[in-house]
Amino acid sequence: MNHEAHVSVEERVLGFLSGQTTESPFSLFAQLREMGPVISVRNPLGESVGNSWMITKMDIATQVLKDAKSFTVDPSSIESDSGFREDILTEKNSSPDTFFTGKSMLFIDGIDHKRLRRLVSKAFTPKYMESLRPRIQELADELIDQVKDKGRMDLVKDYAYPLPINVISEMLGVPKEDRANLQIWSSAIAKGLGWGKQDPGIQKHLKEFGAYTKELVERKRITPADDLISQLIEIEEEGEQLNEDELISMITLLIFAGHETTSNLIATGTMMLFDHPEQLDQLKADLSLIPTAVEELLRFNGPTTSVGPRFAKVDLELAGQSIKKGDMLLIMVKSANRDEEKFHDSDGLDITRDIHRHLAFGFGMHMCLGAPLARVEGDIAFTTLLGRLPNLQLSIPPEEVNWQFSISSQSIESLPVSF
Ligand code: HEM
Repeated sequence: MNHEAHVSVEERVLGFLSGQTTESPFSLFAQLREMGPVISVRNPLGESVGNSWMITKMDIATQVLKDAKSFTVDPSSIESDSGFREDILTEKNSSPDTFFTGKSMLFIDGIDHKRLRRLVSKAFTPKYMESLRPRIQELADELIDQVKDKGRMDLVKDYAYPLPINVISEMLGVPKEDRANLQIWSSAIAKGLGWGKQDPGIQKHLKEFGAYTKELVERKRITPADDLISQLIEIEEEGEQLNEDELISMITLLIFAGHETTSNLIATGTMMLFDHPEQLDQLKADLSLIPTAVEELLRFNGPTTSVGPRFAKVDLELAGQSIKKGDMLLIMVKSANRDEEKFHDSDGLDITRDIHRHLAFGFGMHMCLGAPLARVEGDIAFTTLLGRLPNLQLSIPPEEVNWQFSISSQSIESLPVSF
């Protein structure tokens, strides 16, 4: 690669990492894959906090994600802590915990991670998720009933957002009237928090989210119900497996992770189908292809751009690069999912593709707990949408669709459609 091209890649990486760019990252990722699977990048947290590496390809990404001996999600567990999340954690004592400020399974490893994950894993087995199908179907149908006669809707506001938030809220036992606030906090958190990035006002949202959850727990202590929060309170009150901070962190994680990404899958997935009309037609003609199509939409351009950074626990070599203890690894799952060595025509959308593995739900110990739920929701959401509104089409020119690309995720603000 010549010098000029290299400099421009570096600048693009910086723009991407600083969260300043609204550009789709795929052409940048393709350039990075050409350079190698492990690329040295300037640390988004500043020069003083160790080296950073971007992982661009499938084999190395899976290797890192499954190697708990060499890598951790929790930088405070190694001596050379990089300061990741420090600004936010310094405020910790002044507010109730959330999944981000407190001790949630997403940011810890080892036996504590296993203990926390085990407490809720039964509620997310594929078998249990299948049992929720009839209720999820009802919720999807209700949303379509509300718009069917109007001939148009905002697919984000009227369908992609309310479906997952209602599903996870019913599982957890979050009252209907509180769900609008969850949207405000979750989308502010999704947009406002990144690696070394914190939007002004984000503390306020995290605090309100934590305070609300604490108050909800108090209400449920007095009046328990048949829901996951009440079950977790029971475990907490037994005293050995879960403390109150962990309980609040866990609930905020389940609420946040349980809807934000799935909404994005439905909205951006629909947009990708609009962008590939021949694939959309094929799917409409045979709705039994939907589960395969959902996997391909997740691979092709899933909601997650990168999983949480991993930190090296030891000095080691990775694809010829010398990684030092404390270095930060940024694992670009969206790039790994376009790895030319793993997928034929990796930049093409093929809803019949036979996928051995994609990384849209991550991999290893922290692989998405909610993947079985997201899959059932995706299946029902697309089947209901295309089955009941076969003339679905985008009402604005595609270039006017407001995409939000960030380091860790992507979303669409609004998607006007007619049918
Ligand atoms: C299409 C929808 C979804 C996508 C693309 C997605 C993606 C991911 C990814 C990539 C991770 C791994 C993060 C990491 O390794 O740093 C993750 C973890 C997690 N997800 Fe999801 N997710 C989705 C839906 C859900 C749903 C519906 C839930 C339900 C509660 C959920 C709950 C979780 C939890 C609790 C974790 C943390 C697991 C752990 O650390 O052990 N997710 N998700």
